[in-house]
Amino acid sequence: MTFSRADCGPVIPRKMSGSPAKPENNSEAINQRVNALLAEMTLAEKIGQMCQLDASNGYAPDYLADGLRAGRVGSVLNVADVNTVNELQRVAVEESRLGIPLLVGRDVIHGFRTIMPIPLGQAATWNPELVKQGAQVAALEASTTGINWTFAPMIDISRDARWGRIAESLGECVLLTSKLAVAMVEGFQSDDLSAPGSIASCAKHFAGYGAVESGRDYATTNVPETKLRNVHLRPFKAAVDAGVTTLMTSFSDLNGIPATGNEFLLRQVLRDEWDFDGFVVSDWDSIRQLQIHGLTENDKESAFEAAAAGVDMEMAGDAYSKHLAELVEEDRIEVSDVDTAVANILRAKFRLGLFENPFTNPADLPPIANERSLDTAKQAALQSVVMLKNEHNTLPLSAEKLNSVALIGPLSDAPYQQLGTWIFDGDLDLSVTPMHAIHSLVGHDLDVRYVRAMENSRSKATEAFDEAVEIARDSDAAILFLGEESILSGEAHSRADINLPGDQAELVRRIRETGKPVIAVILAGRPLTLTNIVDQVDAILYAWHPGTMGGPAIADLLFGIESPSGKLPATFPRMVGQIPIYYSQKNSGKPPSRDKIVHIDDIDTRAPQTSLGMSAFHLDTHFTPLFAFGHGLSYTEFDYQHIRVSAKEIGLGDTVTVSAELTNRGDVAADEVVQLYVRDLVASITRPVKELKGFLRVRLEPGQTITIDFDLHTNDLAFFGRDNQPTVEPGVFHAWMGGSSETELRTEFRIVDGDQLSG
Ligand code: BGC
Repeated sequence: MTFSRADCGPVIPRKMSGSPAKPENNSEAINQRVNALLAEMTLAEKIGQMCQLDASNGYAPDYLADGLRAGRVGSVLNVADVNTVNELQRVAVEESRLGIPLLVGRDVIHGFRTIMPIPLGQAATWNPELVKQGAQVAALEASTTGINWTFAPMIDISRDARWGRIAESLGECVLLTSKLAVAMVEGFQSDDLSAPGSIASCAKHFAGYGAVESGRDYATTNVPETKLRNVHLRPFKAAVDAGVTTLMTSFSDLNGIPATGNEFLLRQVLRDEWDFDGFVVSDWDSIRQLQIHGLTENDKESAFEAAAAGVDMEMAGDAYSKHLAELVEEDRIEVSDVDTAVANILRAKFRLGLFENPFTNPADLPPIANERSLDTAKQAALQSVVMLKNEHNTLPLSAEKLNSVALIGPLSDAPYQQLGTWIFDGDLDLSVTPMHAIHSLVGHDLDVRYVRAMENSRSKATEAFDEAVEIARDSDAAILFLGEESILSGEAHSRADINLPGDQAELVRRIRETGKPVIAVILAGRPLTLTNIVDQVDAILYAWHPGTMGGPAIADLLFGIESPSGKLPATFPRMVGQIPIYYSQKNSGKPPSRDKIVHIDDIDTRAPQTSLGMSAFHLDTHFTPLFAFGHGLSYTEFDYQHIRVSAKEIGLGDTVTVSAELTNRGDVAADEVVQLYVRDLVASITRPVKELKGFLRVRLEPGQTITIDFDLHTNDLAFFGRDNQPTVEPGVFHAWMGGSSETELRTEFRIVDGDQLSG
């Protein structure tokens, strides 16, 4: 029998009525309940909890129903229909021997029905509070369908724009990613996981996935332990400290041992060092893939490696269900290890209050896509847009002064494409495109013309360009909506060429020829290389994939209702060959500078070697990026002055305050993201030339000056040293404050005395 199709009418589970029961939240009490339940469970039932099955397509086939009744399934994923979810829970709770409810997982990555900007766009807000609100909205909306676990946040440090999954990430920076990771965890989970509208979160992909070679998805990663600890693991530690319920392993091979079978990561770091008490889920079928990696001979050995390494739950594979029992019987896997994994999973179920309230009544929750959701989506989009360039104050446009504008390009009116990757449940009908938003904002004041010009971003057909040129010529300004469709970024969508795809550069060139002001609004899932268009346009707004409310946000920014305030969470290379290029690089022994470079066109074939500059640069491009990390312009001008420290010398364990005055010198109120960078000049391992150590979004009225203070404790300057232990070393530190990583406003202080810091 196949049961529970979404369209069989509402399922009214027996236990779903009245207000939700209040679950026991005390961890001691939860542990007692976990132990009592474990004592009742057979080995098969225990292994069942460790198995997560795919229940996609809105139906639950017989094997799933039978599996639920037999207690062979602990979790399902990819079912997002409340009736189906309730029916699955009903079978699990009412028809299985022990009545253990299900974890219902889903990729709720940047919104559910209401879509926020892609995570990389959210990172460009540098606004943890707003990012948290976005996660709250997503959790609330997802909860209405019975989903109780999201596979987010994705917090892989990403320094390669070729990698499609950079779109899902929070960018290249350890601190920014860590702070926003915590914000997302708090947003999804709230401070009470069992509260209606809270869902468990999952920090992924543990670990090092962002370092895949040449940005090819799923490829190998090689990351020395020190770098792993100083960079890639830090956001995960922050998420664990913030109480993230689960972690997902990475698909990738880390230094020869795929993450899904990596005991160092899953036991030594995660359990022994960090004391993580949640559970670890594999990635999709990544346990069986251990064989494909070449680590194991067959599925049984893969199950062994993953279980031995500490993977508690298998996603969408059958290595555990088929082989774990045998491995236990052969004494290769201890029952106590199975018990630990199951306890980790059951704890999450108790914390979520699923035993008390397994069923979902959408009426108990606020309506989806309500005013708050849409407003949060609009705020997030507004703050995520980065103004990369604004020659001669081309922006904002003035609806009073202009008579007409031409809207041109494949992403002007593409409701789906503006939503970005991972939008399984996004509601396309909610999407407001720039074209519609501009019409409703200024359509009554000026003539708004529109020619799409290209079917999609990859199109190479140029027939419609003439028409686009014509409307541009007849208008006072041309706004080009360029970039990448959603499908060009995200999982398994890496690119080797990250220029604007198709014939977009040619379209820009043609429109440029009209002599009219040209504004490029770029919607994309990654930093694109814009070198071939940057000089052809007067202004650039980089909008990422801005989500449901992208249109109204972009319209408000174009017409000066609000000033752009996003800042880049990732460096923009000039050309792909510069990758990896990121702000926190090391100095090297031969750092480049303007006087130490030479261009390929200027090399004399017989010149002595020294004329080549002998520094770390490419002959055929500049050594700097096109746009630096942290960059982002505004309609006002922010001025930083008087950087200073509260003490020139501090002892280990002390705090120094770095301060500066920030003034809004323009004539509009605007937000600025103040950034604090530090360099540890001399250390037992070489340290980055700059590391972000603090940031703050502030709003200043015209003419207003405020003092910005950042407190830096010496622990904030700790790093993992030669022995892979955290250390803070005395010595001189430079500190910069400003509106981008290129700031030169610097002071310094010294840490004196002491030696090693533990913990
Ligand atoms: C992705 C994960 C995702 C999972 C479930 C995998 O292919 O790597 O990030 O959560 O699928 O959809």
